[in-house]
Amino acid sequence: MIKTGIIGGAGYTGGELIRLLLHHPHADLVFVQSRSQAGRLLTEIHSDLIGETAMSFSGNVEKEVDVLFLCLGHGESKKFLTENVINGKVKIIDLSQDFRLSSPPGRPFVYGMPELQRDKIAAARYIANPGCFATAIQLTHLPLSARGNLRHPLHISAITGSTGAGKRLSDTTHFSWRHGNISIYKAFEHQHLKEIREVIKQLQDGYVPEIMMLPFRGGFTRGILAAVYMQSDLSGAEAGELYKTYYQSHPFVTISGQNPDVKQVVNTNKAVLHIIKHGSELLIVSVIDNLLKGASGQAVQNMNLLFGIEETAGLNLKSVAF
Ligand SMILES: NC(=O)c1ccc[n+]([C@@H]2O[C@H](COP(=O)([O-])OP(=O)(O)OC[C@H]3O[C@@H](n4cnc5c(N)ncnc54)[C@H](OP(=O)(O)O)[C@@H]3O)[C@@H](O)[C@H]2O)c1
Repeated sequence: MIKTGIIGGAGYTGGELIRLLLHHPHADLVFVQSRSQAGRLLTEIHSDLIGETAMSFSGNVEKEVDVLFLCLGHGESKKFLTENVINGKVKIIDLSQDFRLSSPPGRPFVYGMPELQRDKIAAARYIANPGCFATAIQLTHLPLSARGNLRHPLHISAITGSTGAGKRLSDTTHFSWRHGNISIYKAFEHQHLKEIREVIKQLQDGYVPEIMMLPFRGGFTRGILAAVYMQSDLSGAEAGELYKTYYQSHPFVTISGQNPDVKQVVNTNKAVLHIIKHGSELLIVSVIDNLLKGASGQAVQNMNLLFGIEETAGLNLKSVAF
């Protein structure tokens, strides 16, 4: 069994990780640390876990684990690794954006997107889990950029539910504002653009096409739908073949003949893609659950790869569907 620990377990991604690890066939959840909830039962904060665990949040970092998941806010993971001595043998999977573009001294982090670099992840010790929008969006063009085939501007419209913003209440996650509402934020400058550009640069030998992204906030709790289009010489059928071939060995990505919706994937680690050719434009629609394939599910997928077990272990989940 893999001994696991969670740092920052009271938030949304921490809660999802607890749910996944408690039921993982090859993992033991040894401790869940929380600064805000130390001493309280996990079920007092994540009340859906009632009947599944009697564990309490710990105030300490317990060292006897094989892997640590960091579920901390922006800048906090960097701080955590500076302030705590973690045995070099312990693997680390960080869900924040702190190490997606650069690593701290002596800890080389690998960008944890299995559909991009499964072998590199399997050989790594430290994983920077990708952002949720970045995951949904990158899946729409990885087969093209892997062939050096992205030559035209990318146009992105992408919408996320309220859990994408974390558990702390803000004006735009307050029920009265968010429910039944929609708005654009961070147009053309969402923070995930940096990692998207970095990955394209890595695949296309320094070339990055212009990327224009309109992120939306939607009045639902979880799920991301990204619609990405660009000019392409490929026909719809050729693109379909290319995507099917690229993703055939990736268990969580499916190419659908129908326009997807978020309820197909909410509560699962799946990504569903749909391809439409309109004139010279190639449109790819992508849906994921921001807290699973966009965060904690992908983190467990990365753990499975790090420890050489079945990539899907603990991740055969049932969608909500309705
Ligand atoms: N949400 C997503 O869809 C998503 C997707 C991909 C990546 N991420 C990234 O993953 C990291 C964690 O995101 P998250 O959505 O889990 O954030 P979150 O819900 O805001 O939790 C972040 C931290 O805030 C603390 N916290 C939680 N609830 C609290 C409360 N009621 N009062 C005080 N503190 C509280 C927790 O630490 P303590 O337990 O120590 O108090 C937790 O580690 C972030 O860096 C985020 O960018 C998030």
